[in-house]
Amino acid sequence: MFLTLLLTATFYKDVLPILQDHCQSCHRPGQIAPMPLVTYAQTKAKAKAVSQMVRSKKMPPWFADPKVGHFANDPSLTAEEIETISQWVEAGTPEGNRRDAPQLKLWNVNGWNIPQPDRVVQMPKPVRIPARGDVEYTYQIVPTGFAEDKWVRMSELKPSSRQHVHHAVIYIRPPDSTWLRNAPKNTPFTASSLGDPHLQHDAHWTDSDMLLVYAPGTSPDTWPEDMAKFVPAGSDLVFQMHYTTNGRATQDQTSVGMVFSKTPPGKRVLTLQLTNDRFEIPPETDDYRVEAWGSLPNDATLLSFFPHMHLRGKRFEYNIVGERGNVETLLRVNYDFYWQLTYRLAQPRPLKAGTRLQAVAWYDNSRKNPHNPDPTAIVRWGDQSYEEMMVGFFDIAVPAGVDKWQYFVRQPK
Ligand code: HEC
Repeated sequence: MFLTLLLTATFYKDVLPILQDHCQSCHRPGQIAPMPLVTYAQTKAKAKAVSQMVRSKKMPPWFADPKVGHFANDPSLTAEEIETISQWVEAGTPEGNRRDAPQLKLWNVNGWNIPQPDRVVQMPKPVRIPARGDVEYTYQIVPTGFAEDKWVRMSELKPSSRQHVHHAVIYIRPPDSTWLRNAPKNTPFTASSLGDPHLQHDAHWTDSDMLLVYAPGTSPDTWPEDMAKFVPAGSDLVFQMHYTTNGRATQDQTSVGMVFSKTPPGKRVLTLQLTNDRFEIPPETDDYRVEAWGSLPNDATLLSFFPHMHLRGKRFEYNIVGERGNVETLLRVNYDFYWQLTYRLAQPRPLKAGTRLQAVAWYDNSRKNPHNPDPTAIVRWGDQSYEEMMVGFFDIAVPAGVDKWQYFVRQPK
């Protein structure tokens, strides 16, 4: 009897710490998960499902092949943590003593997953989202009003209507950039609403650096010590929002929270991408392979990855291809369109100029793919989910004084 008492897990002492560290980033009010797992009553009500989801490893969501690489933001539970939850449920969900509870996380108070932001930039005007149909990418250019240069150590996107945001990219537009210069500020627009064909083209292509990329379930950007994103004084943030409809009309007014570095860091983080927009996926075909590669123009430290495909996406890999064609895989993702995540290397990886980086994507355009909207279609690049994309975003750190343009200047051998 004494022994069993000792071994029985309780909610406050054993289960709540696991929920705080691995589940509540999504399972709390205002986040993407359908129900909160914050209080005893909430968790007890879902106990069976919780146990099932953790034992089957469906929760927390994570899609990296465990045989490849180690990632700092891997939320997976250990075998012991899974066992603790299972035993707690089997034992009839004992509550235990409130005094054993871990300290409440700050996020239950301020709603952010990052520490209290130094600055929040919100889209000044809400965007109307219809009940049905495709929504063209919506842009909003928002001046930061920064009187001095800022280094952003952490950033997070917070939609006001989470259910409707399919993905979002926040670009940094420095004051000397000509990108979308004649487009309106502080008000939403789409490419087709801009009369000028030059501006329309601009809306679809930019080499501006990104502050962040968001999709439901992504963890906020938190850069390693002494590294940050650079936002020059007087920059604008350009919100590029992809909304999807779900039968209910609404509006969204997304915000970005930023935590600044206290002192200027030694390294600047840049987001680059390996893209292939010239593919044709044949109808009724599984495992269709598309690749993109490039060689690093200068030395850099590789930090993280964000693979992006649409409904037919199946698998995505990042590789280093050696001089003799030998391949070292850095990340292999069993892709799930509904879970587009960032994968941050546990150990940032210094790479030499000339290193060949390769991204490989596989698509399933067969009938076996339950998400496939039309297996008879020939599928090409396009913005909407029934078209496809092949983008391997990756983040690197370079010396603090180097911008994206300078990074791409190759040194003579
Ligand atoms: C990255 C966000 C995220 C994290 C982290 C996460 N969940 Fe979830 N969870 C969701 C979303 C979104 C859903 C609903 C959609 C789905 O099932 O895929 C869900 C669904 C569930 C369900 C099914 C709900 C039902 O009614 O059947 C359970 C149970 C669950 N999660 C438990 C957990 C537990 C336990 C953890 C931590 C060990 C966890 N989740 C971590 C986002 C998350």
